Amino acid sequence: MPRHELLSETTDFLITRGFSTARFGLILGTGFGACAQAVEQKSVVPYRFIPHFPSSTVKGHEGNLIYGGRDEASVIVMQGRVHLYEGYDIRQIAYPLEVMRRFGVEVLIVTNAAGGLNPRFETGDLMATRHHIHPIGLKLMGDLAAGTDGDPCYDDALRESFLQISIQENKPVQQGILAWMPGPSFETRAEISLLKSLGADAVTMSTVPEVLAGRRLGMRTAALSCISNVWTGRKEETVDTEDVVSTVESSAGRCSDLLVRLIRLVHQGNACT
Ligand code: HPA
Repeated sequence: MPRHELLSETTDFLITRGFSTARFGLILGTGFGACAQAVEQKSVVPYRFIPHFPSSTVKGHEGNLIYGGRDEASVIVMQGRVHLYEGYDIRQIAYPLEVMRRFGVEVLIVTNAAGGLNPRFETGDLMATRHHIHPIGLKLMGDLAAGTDGDPCYDDALRESFLQISIQENKPVQQGILAWMPGPSFETRAEISLLKSLGADAVTMSTVPEVLAGRRLGMRTAALSCISNVWTGRKEETVDTEDVVSTVESSAGRCSDLLVRLIRLVHQGNACT
């Protein structure tokens, strides 16, 4: 079936479940699921019931698509995501973004858990992405990366607004360069050294494909990471997935506030320019 017909089947189904136009798209990564409570939930549909939609298989990802509202703004929330390492290809990862676009999403905010590489970062810090690095290579990215060559990807005004809001709350978000690694295993010490030498401030296993897909669809994009662990370079260093999830979960209240305030600011036309 051609892709546009698949997309029509998906959106027709979601319309029957109460979905309608939305200006904002929000992807909640590992441990961020509770942030969905910040929107008034009008419809919650598990991914596995949505025709042609990829399902989350990983811990910390609830796997619900939510249509909701907040302060007059309509939002489509992905409560949980899918990753390359779950066996999905880039086009399947991009599919939910195409669905969001069909519902009119213009502004995409993507969240993730990330390992801190910058020695100034502490566990629990939040980081807004300035740029990304994906050392995996363009071939794998396929047509997703085409047309975004040299594109800054991350909207300056959205990032600056995150910073301003967080300053008002007395805990400024960090800003930095996000590296994408395929996972699912955490990086080796040699990979961590490599990423640090490339100038990356944090590393994640998601986000970059979704941001590229969003950009290709003409969305303004922002990404917010919760630094769930910091790579100090010590020999015995290990990362535990349970700790990653629980660290992000304990930041969820703060993240929700930031996300809600950003949506309000942008929707009222008061975001930084
Ligand atoms: N590396 C990659 N992805 C991650 C990490 C990490 O250290 N922490 C949370 N997500």
